[in-house]
Amino acid sequence: RNLDYAFVDLLRKITIDVQFLKGGQVVYQGTTFLGYVGLWTGQSPHKFTISGDERDGGRWWENAIAAFLNRNYPVSWLVRDTLSEAQDFQSAVLRLADIPIIAEVYYIVGGVSPKEGMVITRNRRGPADLWPLDPLGGAWFRVETNYDHWTTPPPFDDRRTAAIKALNATGQHNINFDTLFKVLLKFLNTYKVFTL
Ligand SMILES: *[C@@H]1O[C@H](CO)[C@@H](O)[C@H](O)[C@H]1NC(C)=O
Repeated sequence: RNLDYAFVDLLRKITIDVQFLKGGQVVYQGTTFLGYVGLWTGQSPHKFTISGDERDGGRWWENAIAAFLNRNYPVSWLVRDTLSEAQDFQSAVLRLADIPIIAEVYYIVGGVSPKEGMVITRNRRGPADLWPLDPLGGAWFRVETNYDHWTTPPPFDDRRTAAIKALNATGQHNINFDTLFKVLLKFLNTYKVFTL
C-alpha cells in the first residue's frame, strides 16, 4: 500500500508503528495513527499481512480520510482482531471474509507462500468476492486501487492500468522492496487520494 492520503502532511506527523506483545514476544505489528486503536495495515510475523483499503464504489472524495477512519472503526478493528487471533493465512482470510462489519472495504491479505495472496471485496454481511493470486496461471500480482476489480475504473482515476503497466515492466523476477516501492511512488503526488 502507499499510504497516500489527502491529509498526508497531518497524518504523516501522527503515523506510528506499533508492536503488540504477549509474554515479551511480538505477536503482531502494524501502522496506525496516534490515538487510533484500529489498524489499517499490519503483519503477523511469518504468518500473514493485512491491509484495509477503501471501497469507494466510485464515489469521489468528499469522504475526507479522517471521517473515513472514524466512521469505519470496526472495519479496522477486524484487522487488528484478525492479526491477534488468526494462526495462518487461511484462517485470516476466513475471518476477514465472513465476520460482519459496518462498511464495505477491501481486505488485502498476503501470506508466506507464492499462492497465499487474496483481495477480499467485502459487503457488510460477508464477502462479495475473493480474488486470489494465481502464480501458476501467470497472475503473480493483483492490483487493487479503490474499485471492484471486475469493473472498469473511471478514466479520471485509472491508477489500476498504470500500476499494472509498471509491474509488467518490472517483471516478477525483479520484484524486491526497492522496485515495488518505485511502483508505489509513481502514485504519490500524482493523484489526490488512494488506498484507504
Ligand atoms: C500486463 O501483462 C499481461 C501478461 O502479459 C497482459 O495480459 C496485460 O495486458 C498487461 N497489461 C498492461 C496494462 O500492460
